[in-house]
Amino acid sequence: MEITIFGTGYVGLVTGVCFAEAGYNVTCFDIDERKITALSQGRCPIYEPGLEEMLKRNLENGRLQFTYDSRLASKNADYIFIAVGTPENEDGSANLEFLEDAVDQIGKYLSRDAVIIIKSTVPVGTNQRIYQKLQGIVPDNIQVKVVSNPEFLREGSGILDTFHADRIVIGADDNEAGRAVADLYKPFGRPILQTDVRSAELIKYASNAFLATKISFINEVANLCEHTGANIEDVAKGMGMDVRIGSQFLRAGIGYGGSCFPKDTKALEKLTEDYEYDFKILRSVIEVNSRQKQQLFEKARELFGNLQGKRVAVLGLAFKPHTDDIREAPAVELIARLIEEQADISVYDPAASGNAADLFGSRLYYAENVDAAIKGADIVFIVTEWPQITQYDLERFSLLMREPVIFDGRNCYDLANAESAGLTYVSVGRKA
Ligand code: UGA
Repeated sequence: MEITIFGTGYVGLVTGVCFAEAGYNVTCFDIDERKITALSQGRCPIYEPGLEEMLKRNLENGRLQFTYDSRLASKNADYIFIAVGTPENEDGSANLEFLEDAVDQIGKYLSRDAVIIIKSTVPVGTNQRIYQKLQGIVPDNIQVKVVSNPEFLREGSGILDTFHADRIVIGADDNEAGRAVADLYKPFGRPILQTDVRSAELIKYASNAFLATKISFINEVANLCEHTGANIEDVAKGMGMDVRIGSQFLRAGIGYGGSCFPKDTKALEKLTEDYEYDFKILRSVIEVNSRQKQQLFEKARELFGNLQGKRVAVLGLAFKPHTDDIREAPAVELIARLIEEQADISVYDPAASGNAADLFGSRLYYAENVDAAIKGADIVFIVTEWPQITQYDLERFSLLMREPVIFDGRNCYDLANAESAGLTYVSVGRKA
């Protein structure tokens, strides 16, 4: 049985490598020739703990191969997963260009019956449209079916999430195809939910929107804590102990970022507009998040007035720890505003400095470690809770900075410890 994965982005690559690890023969296709060459040589183009070792192991045992030849990738496949990106259009809707291209290629080259499994996050109704499109392309003697199989992996823990998934959602209007895809997942031994296609498509958007809602909700409560003198950590803990609420995704901070929540909440909002349905909570979630992303900067402005000429260190660039991804990262917006203010900016991130350098070039100083970033700084902004930052010795802020003023967007330090280290420490939803 041959499995092909179209698209070796984060989701496609993790899926391909994990299916090979589970014992299948897997071919991964991408149009990016350089990426395919690197992957064929066992070099992983993304920062994902454990992925490179697993990639090498499965290249060596011959279960995994890479190609940029779409004919080769399509013609003998029994199951083709499509995991290409669906980025944001200017109006917030999902851009399905890459998906359409992949379907065209597959349709053109298929030489036997196959099940096409759409992993890409797509608006409700897309799978059905793709099915109809394929009927018009593939020869009459070939039977092709389309199954929706949305992905719930998190960046930075993709392998763990694949082997320990809370659920695998399989949406099929054709029972036989749905059952066949469910069988593919048997070696993973995880709970499987089979639904119709449209429900599967919506489960993905609704799940991301709900998690984003939890974050925006707790951020609003944190802001209320600042007005009322309560402590967000105690409040979140007290709420999370109720199993109906759950303790996860209640960490207040400076807003969610990344390639998923911002894009998917906007795409869902666009979908509701198309159906002329006013999804009020969703609009608020998006609005609260964009306001929250400005918060650290506004707090610094309040304390210092103008930041022009100030020496400023930004600790953490990635949208969360254990990834090098800076897409929609709160740090990017913060830095853009600091550049506007003509602050003198140094930054530190254990993995994402290269990506930030592509974006900001020589306008920033890229430090090798926290010490080098904060040396001589007037202000430190903490944006990502990397262990290198959360476990940093607080005394060193006083030692190395001019005046130790810290704006912490991730509540990394204990308030009493910050006070005894002599810091002016402003965090989220806790007393200054
Ligand atoms: C998210 C979902 O968690 C995955 O289930 C989903 O598959 C993925 O999107 C996707 O659609 O592909 P990811 O974007 O990798 O995964 O990152 P998360 O770990 O969910 O974090 C997203 C953002 O929320 C980060 O900026 C993080 O700092 C923020 N966050 C998370 C908070 O501010 N507070 C929290 O309590 C949790």
